[in-house]
Amino acid sequence: MNIIVVGGGGREHAIIKKLKENKDIEKIYALPGNAGMAHDAELVAIGAKDIDNIVKFATDNKIDFAIVAPDDPLVLGCVDALEAVGIPCFGPNKAAAIIEGSKVFSKNLMKKYGIPTAAYEVFTDAQAALEYVKTCPIPTVIKADGLALGKGVVIAMTREEAVDAVKAAMEDKVFGDSGSSIVIEEFLEGPEVSVLSFVDGKTVVPMVSSMDHKRALDGDRGLNTGGMGTIAPNPYYTDAVAKECMEKIFLPTVDAMAKEGRAFKGCLYFGLMITKDGPKVIEYNCRFGDPETQVVLPLLDCDLLSVMKACREGTLTCDMIRIKDASACCVVMASKGYPGKYDTGFEITLPAPEADREVYVAGAKFADGKVVTGGGRVLGVVAIGDTLEAAVKEAYKYSDKVHFENAYRRSDIGKRALDALK
Ligand code: AMP
Ligand code: GLY
Repeated sequence: MNIIVVGGGGREHAIIKKLKENKDIEKIYALPGNAGMAHDAELVAIGAKDIDNIVKFATDNKIDFAIVAPDDPLVLGCVDALEAVGIPCFGPNKAAAIIEGSKVFSKNLMKKYGIPTAAYEVFTDAQAALEYVKTCPIPTVIKADGLALGKGVVIAMTREEAVDAVKAAMEDKVFGDSGSSIVIEEFLEGPEVSVLSFVDGKTVVPMVSSMDHKRALDGDRGLNTGGMGTIAPNPYYTDAVAKECMEKIFLPTVDAMAKEGRAFKGCLYFGLMITKDGPKVIEYNCRFGDPETQVVLPLLDCDLLSVMKACREGTLTCDMIRIKDASACCVVMASKGYPGKYDTGFEITLPAPEADREVYVAGAKFADGKVVTGGGRVLGVVAIGDTLEAAVKEAYKYSDKVHFENAYRRSDIGKRALDALK
């Protein structure tokens, strides 16, 4: 079997390494991948949004199965284009990817089907939005409708910040057309939980829950980033919460998408907040999360390719998915300065492989035959342990053995989860 994985970050590296456990797979191509995963996949210099060339490559190389991992190609219809030429895919089609591609769509879906989420208003007119934020409760949350590289959400702690956020999105168009419509919603409080789930159009099977650490600095301070680390399972996702999420959120969402003629197949990511009134949806993503995937897939105790095929074919069952009784921690090592300005081009040296340890590379390139840093988030160091405490400790210990100049990591990944367990 020959497979392509569209995308090039740490998430894709984790997907590729998990797929490699299946010995029927002869070749995995990463489009475009990155230099840090060259041992695990053949790199092909085709960008993740270059759908025409992705389809051409897949056809020319007789690809048997395609996995489209990032949001942009999914929302642009990469799966539709590949399926149209007979290449089976894992991932939602364009009609279903809208669940992430449009916040207005997803909020209206939740309202129509009674799925718990923050109260909200939609605006397409800047003046009306500015009027609204003069009197709405503060803090408030302002979200650009479309994809905005994960930067389309502003938590306004003051009325001035709310006004600035509306103007930035709707008048200055800092997110381009993504900000032509905005959602202004109620500020929710409580611990956040990410749940990645397999969906085959009608059946939903969650994987292990996880917790992201989005802020750049220790103590959840500093700027928002793509994610500085993750742990799994998330201690706030108790059995009782899981049951409530399944009944009130997961099943109703999958049913709603089917009823709308947008049956979702692929990985549906539920971004949840556990409020005092119960779990509520903060966001849906139509794909595996990054860096959640880096802790979720190592804890998956089954063949990933078979599950992905079942999602496409509509034959997913609960017993196909087994989760290891263990914990995982991912510590992201970034370039100093990220998410602001940073330098790249520093040689990366990795430790010898060890059992229950992984390094998933996100931002690396080749220079003079060496693998050097090439992005803000450079790599994620993952350890699996019997307890969360052990996983965290071992992830840091292993990350001490990774070297590149200008490296930066948070020192408190997992701390909040460990405090919650006490
Ligand atoms: P997103 O870019 O959609 O992942 O949102 C970024 C972050 O904003 C989320 O992870 C939450 O921490 C926060 N957030 C989004 N919506 C709300 C809300 N309604 N109330 C409080 N925090 C929120
Ligand atoms: N870690 C959040 C995301 O993948 O959107």
